Parts: sequence; C-alpha cells; structure tokens
Amino acid sequence: MLSWLIRTVQSSIGKKALMSLTGLALIGFLFVHLAGNLTYFADSSGETFDHYAETIESNPLLPLAEGGLIVLFLVHIGMAFRVTLQNKAARKHRYAVAASHGGRTAGSRTMVLTGILILAFLILHLIHFRLQKDSIDSFAAAIKMELSKPLGAGAYVIGILALGIHLSHAFKSAMQTLGLNHPKYTPILEKVGLLIAVVLTLGFLSFPILVFMGGKA
Ligand code: HEM
Repeated sequence: MLSWLIRTVQSSIGKKALMSLTGLALIGFLFVHLAGNLTYFADSSGETFDHYAETIESNPLLPLAEGGLIVLFLVHIGMAFRVTLQNKAARKHRYAVAASHGGRTAGSRTMVLTGILILAFLILHLIHFRLQKDSIDSFAAAIKMELSKPLGAGAYVIGILALGIHLSHAFKSAMQTLGLNHPKYTPILEKVGLLIAVVLTLGFLSFPILVFMGGKA
C-alpha cells in the first residue's frame, strides 16, 4: 500500500490523478457546504442556520470530517504545486516551437492564480469561522457582521469569483485526467462542469451580495 502510494506520488499521471480525485471530493464538500449555508436565508432571525451549525458542531464525527477535509486540501494543493513545477521544468527543456494554444480558456490559463486566491480566501474564512469559533455565539450573526462590511463582502466576492473561474476548468480537466474522454460524452461533461461552476459561484455569491445590500435583515 505504502509503496503503491509512493510510486503514485512520484509519477506524473499519479500526481494528476490524485489532484483530480481530491478536487472532485472538494467539489462534493462545496455542494454540502452551500446547501447547509442556504438555511441562512430560511428566516430573518438566523435561527434555522444557527440550529444547523449547532447540529454540525455537536456531531462527534466532526473532528474526523475536518481531518479528512484538511487532508483533501493539503493533497490537492501539494499535487498542484508539484505538477506546476514539473510543467515549468518540462517547458524549459522544450525546443522553441510556438506552442499551440488550442482549447485553452481563461479558466485553464489561470488555474495557479485562482488557486492562490482561493487559498487566501480560505485562510481568511477559516480564521473568522473556525479559529475564532469560541468567541462566536451565533454563526448567523457572525456572517452578517462580516459580510455587512465593504472589505469583508469585497474579499468574499473576489474569493468566490476566483473559485468560479477555477471550477469552470476543474471538472472537465479532472474527467480528462481520469481517462473519461470520449467524443460523445466529453461535450456533455464540459457542460456539466460549467453548470457546477455556475451553481456554486452564484450560490456562494448570494451571501456577500444579499447581506451587504441588506437583503437579509
Ligand atoms: C460565501 C458564503 C459562505 C459562507 C456564508 C460560509 C460560512 C461558513 C461558516 C459559518 C462556517 C463554520 C460553520 C460550519 O462549519 O458550517 C464555515 C466553515 C467552512 N467553510 Fe465556509 N462559507 C462560505 C463559503 C465557503 C467557500 C467558498 C469555501 C471553500 C472555498 C468554504 C470553506 C469552508 C471550510 C473548509 C470550512 C470549515 C469546515 C469545518 O471545519 O467543518 N466556505 N463556512
């Protein structure tokens, strides 16, 4: 098992496969997170959301889920870092032939940049809601306080837009890496990837926009 893991991490395709699998699992987390967060809009007092957050906080399996999430993020970022370095080194050794940019999109060209912006957003987000959680009585009130400020809402908009651009390329790229490439199914998978990016981006964007504009009392 250990030698299989070492061989996988050392091979180029193994690193990409790990990056794809952890990325897909993180997309799954984002859907669950968004679905739970949307209870914030269920009532004006934030009671439904606070009840939902309390249910999560009191679950004895939470440390296990959080540990799994940390591993997913670390493996995803670690593999992305190593694949990027590897690609850079490969480009250096290539002959000076004009590279084809066929099929490249804003999403694919900016994966590293959007990845760094998402990481910065995530650190900010976890400082607010995880590291300071002992001083938070109500998560709903904490969301309102954070996103009512122009700086808070602005940082969330930038982080979520970066996430959207990252996701617009991520799903189809993961499918390709995992070998799910087929003339008939690839166009469908591309549309599914775009739909995932649009749903998650608009869903998460609704928080900074509606809270900042006062749409949520
Ligand atoms: C913009 C809307 C968002 C709101 C209002 C929000 C709110 C929250 C809150 C209140 C918590 C702590 C309580 C809980 O675990 O549910 C939390 C945790 C977390 N959020 Fe968000 N979030 C948002 C977007 C995001 C995005 C876009 C990401 C990922 C890029 C993300 C990643 C996380 C992670 C990793 C945790 C820690 C989970 C845990 O330790 O259990 N959140 N969020």
